[in-house]
Amino acid sequence: MEHNIKLIERHGQVPLLPILKSNAYGHGAPIVAAFLRSKGFSFLGVSSLEEALDILQITPTSLLVLAPPLPAQLPLFFQHHLLPTISSPELLAGVSQLAKERRQKITIHLKVDTGFGRLGIAPEGLLSLIKQIKKAPYLHLGGIFTHFSAASSDTAFTQRQLHTFLKLKKDVDALGGCDHVLWHAANSAAFLTLPSSHLDLVRIGTLLYGQSPLPQIPPWDLAETWQFKTRIIHIRTLPQGHSVGYGRVYRTKKPTRMGVIPVGYSHGLELEPLTTPWRQIKQALGQGLKGQNHVLHPQGPLPIIGRVGMGLTSVDLSQTPDVHVGDCVTVSMRRVTAGANIPRVYYLQGEMKCMFWNHEIYNQRGRKISSRGLF
Ligand SMILES: Cc1ncc(COP(=O)(O)O)c(C=O)c1O
Repeated sequence: MEHNIKLIERHGQVPLLPILKSNAYGHGAPIVAAFLRSKGFSFLGVSSLEEALDILQITPTSLLVLAPPLPAQLPLFFQHHLLPTISSPELLAGVSQLAKERRQKITIHLKVDTGFGRLGIAPEGLLSLIKQIKKAPYLHLGGIFTHFSAASSDTAFTQRQLHTFLKLKKDVDALGGCDHVLWHAANSAAFLTLPSSHLDLVRIGTLLYGQSPLPQIPPWDLAETWQFKTRIIHIRTLPQGHSVGYGRVYRTKKPTRMGVIPVGYSHGLELEPLTTPWRQIKQALGQGLKGQNHVLHPQGPLPIIGRVGMGLTSVDLSQTPDVHVGDCVTVSMRRVTAGANIPRVYYLQGEMKCMFWNHEIYNQRGRKISSRGLF
């Protein structure tokens, strides 16, 4: 990840707000937050209150919660000094009222919908909200942001979104008193394709985790930050004509040595996204040639046979006699859907640093440790 951060920082001389949405894109948000803090990043973006609280259990940091809170969640934002995203006049009124009652200042970011069509204040409503915020003694406007809906595929539309946002910025600047406000818009794709969108900070997720948001091959030599590994837990030989797994959709054509891995669709297996045309072609070709998916063993690919189950999957070992119970295999899996309760193991410069599981950190010897001095 450090390598990717350096590439990002080299590309744009603008502060980076690392995005740790969806459990840091599956990597385990609390440990990623602790690592980023050790690298000087103490302002991070997350998707929900729950995620923010998970991170704060491990590492103190400033967190912008990118989805608007439910009214009932607001007290926890004050209690934990979280920065809420305000996306409607009603929510602003709720935050303002609570801040007054508690006599506690809160920093907020306003989200404007410049074309995404999901969350956000309509552009024509922004100025009146800012006037209200200026009059509210306990509200501090930390930022105004928008989100691009097609930065990797539709530059003209992205430019129109940016144009709307910059026009708003001009109008807000003309009001005066908002010089301190951070204006932000760029995600990974816009960061690469539209330098004029960098503004006061860039919100980067995809690039940080070593993936390209663009359909073509990545422009840089990004480092992969993720692998899903498991072990073979069982091996046996089935006679010819024996069915394998649910639905009996696969039958052995000859006596077949098969193995079982303790991973299934409940862990995210077979939810691999077809993100880029290049990957889609590669996968389609791979499947066309082999007729099936596989997991990777140092001895070679082990084809998946039968249906992937909820928690177990069978693989064909007939071409790889040197595979044994306990051997490690690499499974191709979508990182964001990999269950949060699967242990995450972290390596730094090739050495195992720690494991994170069930809200606890463990060292190489399996002892519980604290995050202090971890990185
Ligand atoms: C509001 C917001 N900003 C930034 C990002 C980061 O996007 P990317 O992963 O393309 O860098 C996301 C991710 O979904 C987001 O929702």
